[in-house]
Amino acid sequence: MNLQWYPGHMTKAKRQMQEDLKLIDLIIELVDARIPLSSRNPDIDELGKNKARLILLNKSDLADERYNEQWSAYFQKKGFYVVKVNAKSGAGLKSIQGVIQEACKAKIERDRRRGIKNRPIRAMVVGIPNVGKSTFINSYAGKACAKTGNKPGVTKGKQWIRLNKTLELLDTPGILWPKFEDQEVGKRLAFIGSIKDEILNLEELSLELLDYIRTNYPGLLNTRYGIKEEGTPVSLLEAVADKRKCLIRGQEIDYAKAAGIVMEEFRNGKIGRITLEFPPVEEETAHEDHP
Ligand code: G4P
Repeated sequence: MNLQWYPGHMTKAKRQMQEDLKLIDLIIELVDARIPLSSRNPDIDELGKNKARLILLNKSDLADERYNEQWSAYFQKKGFYVVKVNAKSGAGLKSIQGVIQEACKAKIERDRRRGIKNRPIRAMVVGIPNVGKSTFINSYAGKACAKTGNKPGVTKGKQWIRLNKTLELLDTPGILWPKFEDQEVGKRLAFIGSIKDEILNLEELSLELLDYIRTNYPGLLNTRYGIKEEGTPVSLLEAVADKRKCLIRGQEIDYAKAAGIVMEEFRNGKIGRITLEFPPVEEETAHEDHP
């Protein structure tokens, strides 16, 4: 897969991020629960050191619940606060407020010692494109959408959304750049639809996805499409085409159409809750059954 990313764009995004980070206490980083590592950019760890950190495992409704738990534990072990959410439905959002207070204890205590009372925590949402940043800001802050307007010392155009007495959110999210260089990461981003389909070979992608699902989630393809899960990936795609009547002029198999169905149904969760990436196995708990 040959994917292009423009260094100029990246440098500008990074510079903007550095500026914005100066204004805030807490980074709320969204990752996609189906690919929590591939959908994050570890550069944010360097950029955001000294800030309180909260990771939201978003789209947790589309990911395998067992792995949602494991990923939460994984990030917690690394020192992040973690909340599983579904920004679209609002599930999980209620518990965020309490976790933020906990994550920012040090800042609250520092303020108290210095005699600063009631200074709200300032937070910013970051993440790679398509992880759900806007959806999250709208559903979390949407109702409280009383914008505080520009304040002295704040870059013109920046707006703070006042969520309550203790929390203010920058209204525009910080966009992180995905790590395309790694082929496997690129593939996972393609699976979830974070790379424009026009530049991908969807048929090839669907074959890999079918093979992955049949291996890691036996039974799901049979349940969804009523097909046998044996044979080559091509035969699986042909079986889907057959069941869904994907035919050109009534006889030839329409591979492109069948591939489109598989990708679309995977992406919106119709095939099932599927996680594409598992937490790296730590030394002491090494298993051989992790792909
Ligand atoms: P971004 O700002 O980070 O780029 O992402 P954005 O909010 O635009 O969300 C990208 C897509 O992901 C949207 O779908 C959005 O509805 C969907 N989404 C966000 N959070 C969740 C979640 O927790 N669960 C699920 N299932 N989907 C989520 P879209 O296809 O662009 O639009 P639509 O389907 O809402 O019409």
